[in-house]
Amino acid sequence: MATTLQRESLAVAPVKLERLLSMKGGNGEASYVKNSQAQARHARSMLHLLEATLDAVPLPEGDEHAFTVADLGCFCGNNTLFMVDVIVRHIAKRYELSGREAPEFQAFFSDLPSNDFNVLFQLLPPLTSFDGGSLEQCLAAAGGSRPYYAAGVPGSFYRRLFPERSVDFFYSAFSLHWLSQVPESMTDRRSPAYNKGRVFIHGATEAAARAYGRQFQADLASFLLCRAREVCRGGSMFLVCLRRTSANPADQGGAGVLFGTHFQDACEDLIQEVITNSKTVSVTELLSLPFSFYACVTSCWLVAVMGRREQGLVDAEKRDGFNIPVYAPSLQEFREVVEADGSFAINTLQVVRGGSPLVVSRPDDVEEVGRAMANSCRSVCGVLVEAHLGEEVGDALFARLERRAARWAGELMEQLQLFHIVASLYFREAKWFTNTFS
Ligand SMILES: C[S@@+](CC[C@H](N)C(=O)[O-])C[C@H]1O[C@@H](n2cnc3c(N)ncnc32)[C@H](O)[C@@H]1O
Repeated sequence: MATTLQRESLAVAPVKLERLLSMKGGNGEASYVKNSQAQARHARSMLHLLEATLDAVPLPEGDEHAFTVADLGCFCGNNTLFMVDVIVRHIAKRYELSGREAPEFQAFFSDLPSNDFNVLFQLLPPLTSFDGGSLEQCLAAAGGSRPYYAAGVPGSFYRRLFPERSVDFFYSAFSLHWLSQVPESMTDRRSPAYNKGRVFIHGATEAAARAYGRQFQADLASFLLCRAREVCRGGSMFLVCLRRTSANPADQGGAGVLFGTHFQDACEDLIQEVITNSKTVSVTELLSLPFSFYACVTSCWLVAVMGRREQGLVDAEKRDGFNIPVYAPSLQEFREVVEADGSFAINTLQVVRGGSPLVVSRPDDVEEVGRAMANSCRSVCGVLVEAHLGEEVGDALFARLERRAARWAGELMEQLQLFHIVASLYFREAKWFTNTFS
């Protein structure tokens, strides 16, 4: 897919971004599987909040329908299997404690169509055999098996995914900060929101940051509208997404460090670099050469450099057409959208410190930190970068990111800290009307 679409800009309609976006698959060094241990750790640190939410879910009668869980933005790794297992077992335990007959369980694993559902299905343990025993006995015996029916649901969570009143519990982790699209104004050169010189809104103009903010609000509102139709009466949601600490949307906190500093500078390197006999040299590197060198070749060298600026690995306009579609909202911003929608009441809405997303065993090894930063970044935005710039330029970009990150390893370990919004919401009322919903 990357090759057929690589010449097209990411200033795209929602459907196009939906077709492109995915975390890096496989299990290579830069895959999401190899770089999501931090997310796994962060999710486990929130288990008490998840369980408190599950404790408040009304238990449907055993023979009513299968208790249904959906993980939205599940990806295809073990994180989703672990969390769904926790959810199902917690609810089953509640049935057991209340002395009531438990229903069957089903889990929907949902993500964009480009998610590798085949890999996910292969990871699924076999279904627990429920023959000849109570659910509790089966669960106790279900070491390497799953006590729920499973299905994959491809589609954007910003649109309808399930029939009305069919899901008891929605879970979504580390996904809602991905926007449905880059606002068109961000790549329109006539617009004040044109994000010139940047690939993310960290440090961008107020107009650009606001455009992203409005997109996030519209997306979250669509998400809530759809879930309000799909959730069963009394059902709940547990949502986790990135959060920024600053009131200023152009200060994206940890996400800003991830996409708006060394990554952005590495993109700039590709524009500044000139190609000389198959060797690339950056203008900054040139300026740091000893004076004696200039004395010999100043004039002809600089003429050559200036004359070949347009031969950078990437041209500036192409870079300006690329923006990472991530937005870390403030807690207040998130709250306002939930309250304006009104279908879900807030059980808990709080901030949890996630820590660093970098997977490193020796934090003082600058090379390891550099590699971890490049891999971490590539695992989440590599597919988009390669779709926009091609795989070869992607390799060049992440190699430069690795070098830059290694140079600033100490600061990076300190500054790259993520905070998450954790929202536990329960369904309050349906305020939609069938004939106005599209
Ligand atoms: C960082 S991964 C999180 C994966 C997993 N939940 C975890 O905890 O590790 C974000 C996931 O959200 C998915 N995603 C992003 N935008 C989406 C959308 N509009 N609809 C459905 N899934 C989306 C991505 O494809 C990706 O798999």
